Amino acid sequence: MIEIAELTHPTDVVDEIIRERAIRAKVKQSRQFVATIHGREAGYLSFDDHSDTQTGVIYEVFVLPKFRKLGVGSSLVAFAEELASTLKCIRLRLSAIPFDRSVTQNWLDSWYTKRGYIPASDGSHELEKNISVSSDSD
Ligand SMILES: CC(C)(COP(=O)(O)OP(=O)(O)OC[C@H]1O[C@@H](n2cnc3c(N)ncnc32)[C@H](O)[C@@H]1OP(=O)(O)O)[C@@H](O)C(=O)NCCC(=O)NCCS
Repeated sequence: MIEIAELTHPTDVVDEIIRERAIRAKVKQSRQFVATIHGREAGYLSFDDHSDTQTGVIYEVFVLPKFRKLGVGSSLVAFAEELASTLKCIRLRLSAIPFDRSVTQNWLDSWYTKRGYIPASDGSHELEKNISVSSDSD
């Protein structure tokens, strides 16, 4: 079972690889989330709300290699989309750049394409997806 929770202190993360990412990302003032699968830390999301442009930004999606292909990455992206919608963002953006050689650029591009992301119209080499605004807090 995949669960996602917000991190208040990056140092609370037990897994060393996720903890290092979270400590580094904290500098950017982004909100951070950890995904667990059956209670074990498996993945990480760093998200920023650019409310001035109604845009949510995924800075990082990362899943520990041993927990990949179990739907954790998809859950983190879906979570970011729901969060962006709740924050009244109308789009989500990201730079699809592999962090390491475990995934190729082609694979990552196709992974996001399957999830509805398309090249941003401003020629920035980012990907974006329009999202519908949640009516929960109306
Ligand atoms: C990109 C990344 C986050 C994907 O994470 P993930 O948890 O493996 O992603 P998912 O499991 O949701 O999806 C991976 C594939 O496994 C498949 N899958 C999902 N659940 C599955 C299951 N239970 N059984 C078999 N396959 C499954 C999915 O269908 C998907 O394939 P598809 O794209 O052909 O549909 C991960 O590869 C990663 O951390 N890469 C390194 C970090 C990086 O470079 N990040 C760049 C972010 S911009």
